[in-house]
Formats: sequence, C-alpha cells, structure tokens
Amino acid sequence: MKYFKYKGKNLFCEKKRVLDICKNIETPFYLYSYNSIVNNFSKLKKALKGINAIIAFSVKANSNLSILKTLAKCGAGADIVSMGELKKALEAGIPNNKIVYSGVGKSKEEMAFALENKIEQFNVESLEELYTLSSIAKKKNNLAKIALRINPDIIAGGHPKISTGKKTDKFGISINDAHKIYDLAKNLKNIKVVGVDIHIGSQILKILPFKRAFKKVLSFSNDLEKKGHNIKNIDIGGGIGVNYSNDKDIDSFLYEYVDLIKNTFIKSNKTIILEPGRYLLANCGILVTKVLFKKYSENKNFLILDAGMNNLMRPALYDAKHIIKPLIKEVQTNDCLDYEVVGPICETADILSKESHLAKNISQGDYLFIDKVGAYGSAMSSCYNSKDLASEILVKDEKFYEIKKRIKTEDLTKFESIAPWLRKN
Ligand code: LLP
Repeated sequence: MKYFKYKGKNLFCEKKRVLDICKNIETPFYLYSYNSIVNNFSKLKKALKGINAIIAFSVKANSNLSILKTLAKCGAGADIVSMGELKKALEAGIPNNKIVYSGVGKSKEEMAFALENKIEQFNVESLEELYTLSSIAKKKNNLAKIALRINPDIIAGGHPKISTGKKTDKFGISINDAHKIYDLAKNLKNIKVVGVDIHIGSQILKILPFKRAFKKVLSFSNDLEKKGHNIKNIDIGGGIGVNYSNDKDIDSFLYEYVDLIKNTFIKSNKTIILEPGRYLLANCGILVTKVLFKKYSENKNFLILDAGMNNLMRPALYDAKHIIKPLIKEVQTNDCLDYEVVGPICETADILSKESHLAKNISQGDYLFIDKVGAYGSAMSSCYNSKDLASEILVKDEKFYEIKKRIKTEDLTKFESIAPWLRKN
C-alpha cells in the first residue's frame, strides 16, 4: 500500500489531495500520513511475532506529539535521549516500562526526572555516569535499572557521521571495560543491572554488521549471566536503513533483519528491545515546498525553493539524497532539465539536491515535494537566518490536521530582550 501517490496529475496523501492542503497552509510544511506510520509499526510487530520484544521508537527521529501518540496507540515504547523527549513520550501516553534512556551526556536533572518516572532502563555509557546515577538514585531513595551500552568495535557501513559502533566513536564502553563495570555495578547502592545494550549506527542496509553485533552482545550477555548478573533485557538499538533512491520500500531487508533477531535471540528468553527511528517514520513524511526563482548561471540551472537546509539538514550534513518531485505531474513533462535544487539560506551548503530531473517549464510558484523526510526532517530543523519553523500536518484518510503550527520569528523574539543599556530612555 502506498500512502503518497499520484492520482491522475495530483499527488495524494492517503485520500487527501495535497494541493488542497496548500490552499490552507503556507509552504514549506511537513506532511505525514497517519496510516503509513501504523502500517510500518504493525509490519514490524507482526514480523517479530514469537519473540518477546519492545519496539521502542527512537524519539529523536520525530518527536511531534501526534506522531508519538500514533505510535503509543500502536503499542510502541520509546528510546529517549533527553528530559524533553521523556516528557513528550510520557505526555503521548507511552508507558514508562517501555522507555529506555540512551545518550552519552545525561545531566543530573535529567537522570533525576527519569528516575522519578521509573523508566525501564538507563543505557549507561561511562563509569562516571554510573556513579552519578547511583548517587542520585540513593539520594532519592530510588532504584535505577541499568544496562551498559557496549561498543562492539564494528564498522556499520552507513555514512561516517552516523556510525556509532567503532572504538574511536564516543559511544559505549568496550567489552573489556564493561565486564569490570558490570561487576562494580553489582555492589553499587540503588543500581540494579537489568540488561545489555548496543547500537552500531543508522541507515544500515547490510545484514553483516548487525549479525556481528548481535553475536557479540549475546555472548557478552551469556558471560555476564555466568558471573551471576541477572540479564532480563537485550537492547539491540536501531539502525535499519530505508531506500531513499526510489519509491520502493525494502521489506526484504526488514524481514532479513527480523529473522536474524529471531535466530540469534529466540533461545535466550530475553526481552529484546529494538530502537527503530528511521524505519518507522522516514517514508511517512514529505516536505511540501514552492519554487521561488529559477536562475541560470555557470552552466547550471538553479531552482531556488522556499524550503532549505533550515528545514531539512540531511543533504547538507550527510550528502543525503532525497527525491524531489512536482506536486502536480503536469509540471513534469518529457521536456526536462537537470536542476541543482537549493534553498534560500545564505550558505553554499544549502543544496537540497545536486541533480534533480524536473520539467523545463517549471516556474515560480509551482509546488514540489521532497520525499521520505518523516525521520530526521523536522526534528533536526532550525530557524537559522531567522526563518520560520515549518508547520507539520497529519493526514488520516481524507482528513488533515495541523499538528504543529508554523513558529514565526515573532514567536521566538518573545524570548529575546534588549539589554538595558541599549534601550532608549
Ligand atoms: N538508538 C540510538 C541509541 C541512536 O543513537 C539512534 C540514532 C537510534 C536508536 C535510531 O536509529 P535509526 O533506527 O533511526 O537508524 N540524523 C541522522 C541519523 C542519526 C541517528 C542518531 N541515532 C540522519 O538524518 O540520517
């Protein structure tokens, strides 16, 4: 089932013609399909049948409350990395016993808040963090359930900026050190070891790195049990990649990934925690934008859009490729040109696509959309150049709703104030 598709000339999101939304909402805006999220979740859940698993959505991929609520209703847990994400996950109705807390830099205040809310597991990334957590838990007369995130020293194969499992990365603890720290944790007050954790990177489309990582984490967990630790959870992180280069979803990779989970862990009788972000959301969202200008220079056709790197960082940051298409197909005739599609931001890196094949007659005011930006799209946006933050719209069948209003410069300047010596008297 495709949730964004052309009917005749027009792009539809589910049963809603996107052009009709453009009449009410100013571009650029993010547009999500509710049913595609539900579909992705249930596909994964169904595939995992037979294994005791928690699907803890990685909130950093998309933290909009309506999105979190959609996932909560599906039965998702959450992988959070800040107090803000925890607050949003709880507000959306994600149960605390399905929440795991990742990240190398949790503040004391954040740890205290997560303790008060009795989350399922802290994924601890250093000895110092463990000591700090123990002392906060002691002060609060609380019990911190922990796993150590191990660094398996595996090259995951995705973009270097989103690879996390090599020993030179800041993430996790080497297996040697982790052995010592688990033994130490056993004697720490107010700390209860409940699991082991691993996360090797993102946008991974090869099974081998996962295979190596899962094997390592399982054998490590077995070693810990032999030493008397009680391991209830194995958290295998996120990382499942998606196909950005065309319309197709690569379900075969998902099934290969799930088979690997089953084959590796089924006999262990552990609860397997998964932390998918991109897989659940990437293909559920598009960024709708408008052509501001066309410009020809130095043998290049530039198409200048009202969306830029402030709205979508991925191309500038990781050279990520997202397909750009017209909202109304008529605009895309056989008579095409190669455009460099850029945004309005005053940065050379503000390129959304180095090469997009689009109609020659495309013109000012035409609507385009950038595909597969439901994950790490809006979540990574900024108001650089004092641009507004784009609104977010959720479609279900023929209904649509503005789930996040456009945040304007005036909204943000409310938090600024003129230093007294600069004010006129
Ligand atoms: N768990 C942990 C501990 C993580 O750090 C991440 C992502 C995930 C789970 C979810 O990974 P996923 O299933 O989405 O691959 N901004 C980058 C991606 C950065 C991922 C950071 N960590 C991008 O736009 O490609």
